[in-house]
Amino acid sequence: MNTTSPVQCKAWGQLAVHAESWRSVHLRELFANDVARSIQLVAEAPGLRYDYSRQRLGAITLHLLSRLAEERGLAEWREALLQGREVNHTEKRAAWHTALRSPDASAEVRATLGRMKSLASRLRTQKTFKRVVNLGTGGSDLGPRLVADALGDGQLDVRFAANVDPRDLERALEGAEPASTLFIVASKTFTTQETMANAEAAKRWLGQRDTRPHFVAVTANTALAKSFGADEILPMWDWVGGRFSVWSAVGFAAMCAIGPEAFQDLLDGARDIDEHFAQAPLDKNVPALMALIGVWNTNFLGAATHAVLPYSNALRLLPAYLQQLEMESNGKRVDREDRTVDYATAPVLWGAEGTVSQHSFHQLLHQGTQTVPCDFIDVSSNEVLSANARAQADALAFGTQAPGLPAYRQYPGNRPSSVLFFDDLTPRNLGRLIALYEHKVFTQGVVWNINSFDQWGVELGKELAKKILKGDR
Ligand code: F6P
Repeated sequence: MNTTSPVQCKAWGQLAVHAESWRSVHLRELFANDVARSIQLVAEAPGLRYDYSRQRLGAITLHLLSRLAEERGLAEWREALLQGREVNHTEKRAAWHTALRSPDASAEVRATLGRMKSLASRLRTQKTFKRVVNLGTGGSDLGPRLVADALGDGQLDVRFAANVDPRDLERALEGAEPASTLFIVASKTFTTQETMANAEAAKRWLGQRDTRPHFVAVTANTALAKSFGADEILPMWDWVGGRFSVWSAVGFAAMCAIGPEAFQDLLDGARDIDEHFAQAPLDKNVPALMALIGVWNTNFLGAATHAVLPYSNALRLLPAYLQQLEMESNGKRVDREDRTVDYATAPVLWGAEGTVSQHSFHQLLHQGTQTVPCDFIDVSSNEVLSANARAQADALAFGTQAPGLPAYRQYPGNRPSSVLFFDDLTPRNLGRLIALYEHKVFTQGVVWNINSFDQWGVELGKELAKKILKGDR
């Protein structure tokens, strides 16, 4: 498989030259000169439409980006990912999250999903536990938290505590009674400082009673979970990365919040996108297009950040979720051959829910000195939100030409964005949305020749904190 530097690819050099011709082109002209642009630069995947007509690119750009993906060996890498081969070479393991939502899932995956479903059904109907608190951090928190916040039906009161700051757990336990509280200790390693501290604090809070029935553990480290003491241990596996693990037993808190059927729909939605990613040709492949357009903006047009703006209160936690997914995956400076790269990798991802964000940082998006490519997520079931998302995308793209107005009243425009349209925020559509970004991240990792599945960069800080606590520093 191709592990050369992308800079050596013919298409990379051609894109660099081609980018020069875009410096003076305005999106206003592009739309004025090509009425079909808003129809042609749209791709579809099950349940969604991706409109990238407001990106600063044209047919030649798209052709060269496809060539780049081909030269990088995207098809081979994709096959390796989907077949569960060892794509994470520094940790010598697969990154097989797609196997968790596959119709051909293995017996152990199906058995675990079955256990999760019966346990969640019992919890939701019997009401022995009135409060469920997920103790986990990073990938063992952000995914289930996003899904529960977006789609929770209120049948069970599910809360989350992620921070080692005791205030986080205190808040999650406000109004709860020890006798009717269940903790889910979600940690792949079962060694993460924050989660273990919160699990021990939860034990103390439960008091003198037998605490085992109050704990469900979700982990790949069954031995440590057993010695901690939990009546139920739901397994996950080393071939599931933390930030790709919401589909595994790590999603158990989400399943408690939304119900087993909705959780199955979430899995089915992700599978729709797996099939689309595997089969759609590059020019119609939504996650691949999202990735390649991101590469174009980052490496050829010089964008340093990327904003995600869901026009949906239910998706308010999506930017936080995507920050881990994108920046922990592709925030890398060394390639697959252990060479320091001389090109940009992941941009800083940030964002917030619209319309709230409009009254906060959109000033910078419209009139600041940096160009920030944006993804608008338009869940079209609400026309006011939809109208605002569309208005923002148009204002960024076209700006104003109002002679006579002072410069501070002018909007330069030519600021790129894409819009992802969904009819509604169903569990299936949320599964599709998350899986889109997963495959986008993977595709960019292939282009940049980096391992998207390790996270060695987080270790030094953990070690130093331990030393400082021990008084060794
Ligand atoms: O420190 C980063 C990290 O390892 C993430 O990659 C992971 O999602 C998180 O910590 C939690 O890890 P665990 O599930 O092992 O507690």
